[in-house]
Amino acid sequence: MATIKKLDLDIGEELGSGGFSTVYNGLWKTPNKQVAVKKLNKVDFQEIKILQQLQHPNIVTLYGFVHEEMDLMMVLELCEVGSLRSYLETNKDKPLPPPLTYDWMLQAALPINYLRNNNIEHMDIKTDNYVINSNMVLKLTDFGLSQILENTRSYSSEAGSWRWMPPERLRDHKLSPKFDIYALALVFWCLLTCRPLPFSEYPSEYSVAEAVCIRKERPPLPSTCPEPVGDLIEACWHDDRSKRPDIKDVIITLVLHKFTFGCNIKPASSSPVLKTRMAQTNTGKCIDTATQTDGKYFVF
Ligand SMILES: Nc1ncnc2c1ncn2[C@@H]1O[C@H](COP(=O)(O)OP(=O)(O)OP(=O)(O)O)[C@@H](O)[C@H]1O
Ligand SMILES: [Mg+2]
Repeated sequence: MATIKKLDLDIGEELGSGGFSTVYNGLWKTPNKQVAVKKLNKVDFQEIKILQQLQHPNIVTLYGFVHEEMDLMMVLELCEVGSLRSYLETNKDKPLPPPLTYDWMLQAALPINYLRNNNIEHMDIKTDNYVINSNMVLKLTDFGLSQILENTRSYSSEAGSWRWMPPERLRDHKLSPKFDIYALALVFWCLLTCRPLPFSEYPSEYSVAEAVCIRKERPPLPSTCPEPVGDLIEACWHDDRSKRPDIKDVIITLVLHKFTFGCNIKPASSSPVLKTRMAQTNTGKCIDTATQTDGKYFVF
């Protein structure tokens, strides 16, 4: 990963901002590449340390960083369409076509499986933190709150949005490998209902936390939601985290659903490798997962 000079960047318009940074459109001059530049509000290398180790088609690539005087900037793969939240806000009244919904559900889940294999919990899964590139591929970003699970690094239980937090995180603040699964269920709900945020009818994040923890409320599933998908979402946002499925089971259910409903899997039936894995899946032996690149599924 490159150390980049500030002078080698032309910084353009703002793309978005969050609690910890502002993100800009930019040109990285030497390779003549359009990039996203994330200017961090404070000099903290934690996000860079985690992201530099990661390589996955559904995770934004970190090309390098600038560290000059008080400036710390991450130079990232540009996702031209912007965040999933803003995409759903713009297209609020136009439901996503089912093949795209299920493709994106899978593309939202696959990087979490990859993180799980690397013992990382993202800790801030939400529609703001998935970005979309010009090929309409969904990529996970914003590793500012991520945790390596076996480390004992304490985390700030206040950091992050309560709207996306599972009840146990709000109650006892203990780090759990099932945080991301709960938030992923809310992302699935947003994709199915074409809403940018869950619980938007609540007046404050506090009232969401109260509804989720005390009254065990969850967003209503649409009547059009196929039963296996509804069952999957309900399991993922279960109040008892031990009842939430592992990410591998989430992916297997989604892949099987896509097969069953014949959603846009072009080379699947002609892929002997995938066929073999799926056969193994049915016997409960498979622990491999599939990923999608340019409409093709690969098994790794
Ligand atoms: N690679 C990218 N391509 C295009 N837009 C991006 C990219 N990365 C981030 N953005 C935009 O900038 C916003 C903020 O980025 P990011 O989530 O990384 O910052 P943050 O300050 O850590 O946010 P948060 O408050 O969620 O922790 C995103 O929601 C998205 O709209
Ligand atoms: Mg963010």
